[in-house]
Amino acid sequence: MPQLTWLITGCTSGLGEAFVRGIIARGDKVIATTRGDVSRISTLAEAGAKTFSLDVTAPRSEIDAVVQNILKENTIDVLVNNAGYVEAGLAEEVTYENYVNQFETNFFGVVKTTQALLPHFREKKSGTVVFLGSSGGLAGEPGAGPYCATKHALEGWNDVLRLETAHLGIRPIIFELGFFRTKIFNKDNLRFRTTNFSDNDPIRELVGGMVQQVDGNQPGDPAKAVSIMVDVVKGEGVAEGKAFPNRLPLGPDCLATLRKHRVNDLLIANEWEEVIRSTNFDP
Ligand SMILES: NC(=O)c1ccc[n+]([C@@H]2O[C@H](COP(=O)([O-])OP(=O)(O)OC[C@H]3O[C@@H](n4cnc5c(N)ncnc54)[C@H](OP(=O)(O)O)[C@@H]3O)[C@@H](O)[C@H]2O)c1
Repeated sequence: MPQLTWLITGCTSGLGEAFVRGIIARGDKVIATTRGDVSRISTLAEAGAKTFSLDVTAPRSEIDAVVQNILKENTIDVLVNNAGYVEAGLAEEVTYENYVNQFETNFFGVVKTTQALLPHFREKKSGTVVFLGSSGGLAGEPGAGPYCATKHALEGWNDVLRLETAHLGIRPIIFELGFFRTKIFNKDNLRFRTTNFSDNDPIRELVGGMVQQVDGNQPGDPAKAVSIMVDVVKGEGVAEGKAFPNRLPLGPDCLATLRKHRVNDLLIANEWEEVIRSTNFDP
């Protein structure tokens, strides 16, 4: 495949940073972005990336202005909507404001950034939009209500975008990642701000213990995930000869979640089929 130019959000750490380094290593061009000052990602500039400041929670007009500025001197082939964080807490206890904050970054930030790029992709009749989904977008996980809700929302939006943009040569894809070892569960990044109801103490303690155990022990290697995601977008390596998928789980833990829940969905559909089919008006 010819050299591509990628635009990535949220490149200060984790998968975003791994994307930038992986893409440069493959000989493609990359525009790395970070919220705040670009000096935060100066090492990526030294590695060969162009760098811009982009906070995905900024108003749509500001995001448009950044994208227009980037497009003055660049053609973008792939947008990677990577920026995100985990707003944790029990579903009942997380405040409405914190649900909104989670959606502002993980969902509306993605919508705004993608909408800012779509006219460019429509004009050139090509473009790939990558979404960073999660096993939490396939099934709920206790203590991650806001996060799971945003990742489920991305699943639906990815499907809709595929159906609406295929005729324009635009390819959306969601990668559904299991647990990968990044800074996402670091105590500075993970938000866990709730009003605690004592009835919920046992489940809150369980979730708190799980979160502490996960940080730094995630089985997934971000560099391996990135290598596969780049292969899939470029149709090379592990993706050679395979049709472009609209979604792809990554990591054995995510595969187990996917299988368990899809099998369960089918069991319910089979057991309840007669009831499910009984709802139309009589002829
Ligand atoms: N790691 C996993 O196990 C896993 C699994 C499934 C999905 N994902 C998804 O992968 C993506 C990357 O996460 P990660 O694991 O690499 O975590 P990470 O190391 O914490 O990186 C998250 C990145 O997002 C940036 N970010 C957060 N809010 C932003 C905003 N408003 N505007 C711009 N950038 C913002 C962060 O920047 P700051 O440094 O400024 O905070 C950071 O660069 C997320 O969408 C996450 O949901 C991760």
